Amino acid sequence: MSAPNSSSNPPAGPPLLDVSNVTAYYGDLQALFGISLQVDAGEIVTLIGANGAGKTTLLRVISGMRPPTSGSVQFGGQNVSRVPAHEMVARGVSHVPEGRQVFPFMTVKENLSLGAFNPRARSHVKRLMEEQLALFPRLAERLEQLAGTLSGGEQQMVAIARGLMAQPKLLLLDEPSLGLAPKIVEEVFEKIQEVRRSGITMLIVEQNVVSGLSISDRGYVVQNGAVLLADTAKNLLTNEMVRAAYLGL
Ligand SMILES: Nc1ncnc2c1ncn2[C@@H]1O[C@H](COP(=O)(O)OP(=O)(O)O)[C@@H](O)[C@H]1O
Ligand SMILES: [Mg+2]
Repeated sequence: MSAPNSSSNPPAGPPLLDVSNVTAYYGDLQALFGISLQVDAGEIVTLIGANGAGKTTLLRVISGMRPPTSGSVQFGGQNVSRVPAHEMVARGVSHVPEGRQVFPFMTVKENLSLGAFNPRARSHVKRLMEEQLALFPRLAERLEQLAGTLSGGEQQMVAIARGLMAQPKLLLLDEPSLGLAPKIVEEVFEKIQEVRRSGITMLIVEQNVVSGLSISDRGYVVQNGAVLLADTAKNLLTNEMVRAAYLGL
């Protein structure tokens, strides 16, 4: 038996995000059936699963946009199950929604500024803006352009940059590569890796399973509102079931 204070095996702190046995409904329709997952600080974790599996609903529960019916969400060791979305942003969770949801009739600059509305970020909008423009130089050239006139890839960059303007500890990305050309998809994933190098933890929903898992530490397969399989990204990429169901191999 190892000594109680063995330094080779330090007690692990709580995960940054701990979702436990969450259920959620839309009216009578149950979307989540007791889903549990954890994300440690510094990780990239990817959720894969068919349309309608409940991935978006789960992200909405985590970011406080939809309260769970039962179960709990802990963030940074605190129970945040009933904390509303604006307060979750202030606590360090940014949600980049499916379909980007940029404000089409506002400029790129205005879209980004809106991301820094929470009290923690508001006082240094200028520095945060400079950081985003360093990460996404293409947006710097289009600051005064209406976001609705940008390409899909550029709009995704705006959506990610807007999420980062809130200075998150955890960034939730829902289908960041959806509808983008392969070359742009590659660019988005490069940016995501740059974001990780800046120390931000990410939970990503991705249909582009190979690209998503390739930059991830771990992944979860979600089916019918529950976790079907959890493993390292490396193992999932070679898992027979994953390959057959999600890669068509
Ligand atoms: N706004 C909504 N109102 C009613 N049902 C919804 C709504 N959003 C999602 N659903 C349903 O909840 C289930 C999970 O959907 P969703 O979380 O969007 O899955 P995914 O993101 O994995 O495609 C599906 O059956 C879907 O039809
Ligand atoms: Mg979805």
